[in-house]
Amino acid sequence: MPGLVVVGTQWGDEGKGKIVDLFTESADIVVRFQGGNNAGHTLVVNGEQTILHLIPSGVLHRRVRCVIGNGVVVDPAVCWDEIRSLKKRGYLKSDRQLLISDRAHVILPYHLKIDQLREKRKAAAKIGTTGRGIGPAYEDKMARIGIRVGDFISAHRFQKRLQEVLPDKNRYLTQILGGKAIRKSELLAWQRRLAPRLAPYVVETAASLAKWWQQGKRILFEGAQGTSLDVDHGTYPFVTSSNTVAANAATGSGLGPQVLNEILGVSKAYTTRVGSGPFPTELDDAVGEHLRTTGGEFGATTGRSRRCGWLDLVLLRHAIRTNGLTGIVLTKLDVLSGLKTIQVCTGYEYRGQKVTDFPSDLEWLSKCRPIYKNFRGWQDSLQGVRRFRQLPRAAQQYVRAIEKALGVPITLVSVGPARDAHFFLRPIFKRRKTY
Ligand code: GDP
Ligand code: IMO
Ligand code: MG
Repeated sequence: MPGLVVVGTQWGDEGKGKIVDLFTESADIVVRFQGGNNAGHTLVVNGEQTILHLIPSGVLHRRVRCVIGNGVVVDPAVCWDEIRSLKKRGYLKSDRQLLISDRAHVILPYHLKIDQLREKRKAAAKIGTTGRGIGPAYEDKMARIGIRVGDFISAHRFQKRLQEVLPDKNRYLTQILGGKAIRKSELLAWQRRLAPRLAPYVVETAASLAKWWQQGKRILFEGAQGTSLDVDHGTYPFVTSSNTVAANAATGSGLGPQVLNEILGVSKAYTTRVGSGPFPTELDDAVGEHLRTTGGEFGATTGRSRRCGWLDLVLLRHAIRTNGLTGIVLTKLDVLSGLKTIQVCTGYEYRGQKVTDFPSDLEWLSKCRPIYKNFRGWQDSLQGVRRFRQLPRAAQQYVRAIEKALGVPITLVSVGPARDAHFFLRPIFKRRKTY
């Protein structure tokens, strides 16, 4: 039975939103299973851009249900804004199209404050978070002092939970972080304003998903962030606070791992990163600037300029292993047009030794020097390319070489932001009922 997971293989922003929107054509349900509105997923359909932070990227397909799973952290204000703006544009006409798990945890205003004040205090050592309260919300979930969506929509339960946690939060905010306390009345008013708006969407989503799975519905699991931002497998501590890898699609949606039949990793044809932390193939030169400008590499959530560099096969092999990828989607190949030479990192060198496994030790990683293989570039624009054969020969060689080096099939190549700017290398995902 068909369950497809789409995850990021790098440091996020690989183009997951576009790919999920595209595959939604052959799905019945799209589920977000981790992260929150730190994500920014961009869709371009009929020349119109949509940036989604929380609502699954399948939402532009009206017949498809969108689920915010238990593994997500939900900022109610952001969620409501997103619902409202989609409704205004004629989407989400039926409230039944969106389901929010009652087990998902809520991002409260104090989480945002804590995130922002902590980053400020860390100054140069900051993680470079999105400042959306993601880390503090997940911390509370693990510390068992979080407030779940199910509690949030009940005024009585919300008030009770708040009574238990707010005094400590305010002590932390004022005495440790030097910020201002948040009044309980302020939070109660916030809940009164937002809870009735979200309540119609709140259900036990895992039970619905299990029922649909039994009925043979096709479920698409939408990852946020990327493997190198995973709290276990990424460049810790310069990571996000959730597991971004495919296995969490099961935990974060409440289904068993047997539903994860196909696991596609999205990778740019080069690498980018927003925020701090080591980045072995980073380019601090004109080529890096070319990638940033041509690729429009500015964050969809915070507008920050993205750090750019060459494709890193060490990092991708790590993503293949930690996700169990069955295929790769290569995006933004068009951005490489116009370069004379393209480099790909095939391994690292550390103190005269070749390193082929992505190091877990950051000090070690930051001292690794990339070993590059050079490829001939191409000058033609790829925007209109809709078949592999239409690619310039040098671009064909680039794609084939990556596939060979990784040992995992490249199933699809994307050559522009628009929904139709792509071509399949394997027909498997083209027809309905194939996953
Ligand atoms: P996500 O977070 O993984 O969904 O990716 P983002 O939306 O944050 O960033 C990807 C950016 O690249 C967006 O602006 C997309 O519109 C754009 N994009 C996606 N695929 C392609 C592609 O193949 N070529 C180009 N030029 N842009 C693309
Ligand atoms: P999508 O889903 C790129 C990065 C932040 C920071 C680190 C921790 O659009 O690919 P957080 O706010 O999560 O505590 O920040 O993670 N980060 C992302 N980078 N794309 C994302 O999401 C990201 N979500 C978080 O920049 O370095
Ligand atoms: Mg993004």
